[in-house]
Amino acid sequence: MVITKSLFGKTKDGAEVHAFTLPGENGAYVTVLDYGCTLQSIVVPGRDGRLSDVCLGYGSVAAYENEDGYLGACIGRYANRLGDGVFELNGKTYTLFKNNGKNTLHGGKTGFDKYVWDSRIEGDALVFSRVSPDMEEGYPGSLAVTVTYRFGEGNRLSIEYHAVSDADTVVNLTNHAYFNLTGGPSGDIRGHVLQTDAASVTENDKSGCPNGKLLPVSGTPFDFTSPKPLGKDIDSDNEQLRLFHGYDHNYVLPAGQGLRTAAVLYEPTSGRRMTVQTTKPGIQLYTANFLNGSTPDKNGTLLHQYSGVCLETQYFPNSMQIKSFPSPILRKGAEYRHTTVYAFDVLD
Ligand code: GAL
Repeated sequence: MVITKSLFGKTKDGAEVHAFTLPGENGAYVTVLDYGCTLQSIVVPGRDGRLSDVCLGYGSVAAYENEDGYLGACIGRYANRLGDGVFELNGKTYTLFKNNGKNTLHGGKTGFDKYVWDSRIEGDALVFSRVSPDMEEGYPGSLAVTVTYRFGEGNRLSIEYHAVSDADTVVNLTNHAYFNLTGGPSGDIRGHVLQTDAASVTENDKSGCPNGKLLPVSGTPFDFTSPKPLGKDIDSDNEQLRLFHGYDHNYVLPAGQGLRTAAVLYEPTSGRRMTVQTTKPGIQLYTANFLNGSTPDKNGTLLHQYSGVCLETQYFPNSMQIKSFPSPILRKGAEYRHTTVYAFDVLD
């Protein structure tokens, strides 16, 4: 089980981008780029043993540089939205770049997804690192970040995030992989069956930013406490679904400590199942509502609404404004730690 490295391409500034291949079981493998710590492919067997790629991605660095769908990327310094592009910390107001209407989204103008990270291979671990300088994108504190990928036994992909800052700051890191367990973007994800024990979601305002209210899922299209196809209620006459053209909501995971199962996604035709575990309190269910078919993916296929589904583990979006949400503040010298696992197997 040896991790290999090859040249993937170059950025428009001439920096080399590498692809790392992490082998798994039964021919499975995962490809990760040092550009944005991007998960570029996840190739796993289906019920019939056939290998297919279940992670949407592009075939060139240019596509990753030009597109804003965040395909498979590491998102930071703050995943998802911070309302009005401002936050207050220690009595001081910090102003961020508004790249999504009135909000800051996924780190701002140039998020962690748009950098080539340093990399090293340590046995079965692929470790990326970068220092986000003080006031990068308006965030205080020089932040030393590592993102460690492991894949292998049980076709279990783990991502471990670690960060330390030299001043108080906010940190919310995630991965923005779009999954399609049919094994390609042409079959859409409405037939995928999702289960999560989350009993509520955070309600969004019209800009997609949580307004502080928690909506109990029971009796609503948001209820996945029993396994349900993503497409079953997606066209319901529900304002929260209509506003964002599908699911784009943060699920409030049951309280608990350590690594816990957050969601299980199953695709009946291939038999593929993905189990998501995390140490963080929330998970964004996003049904790729805004993919718009402008750039061909790595197979030449145009991506569109419902081509994939994201399950982004995180602190709740807008959690600097909403004081009742778990706090994303990282104190000077303290450690930010976050583990997420995507485990792949098949059901007969
Ligand atoms: C999601 C977010 C969506 C959209 C997407 C990127 O995490 O919730 O609203 O911005 O990223 O296109």
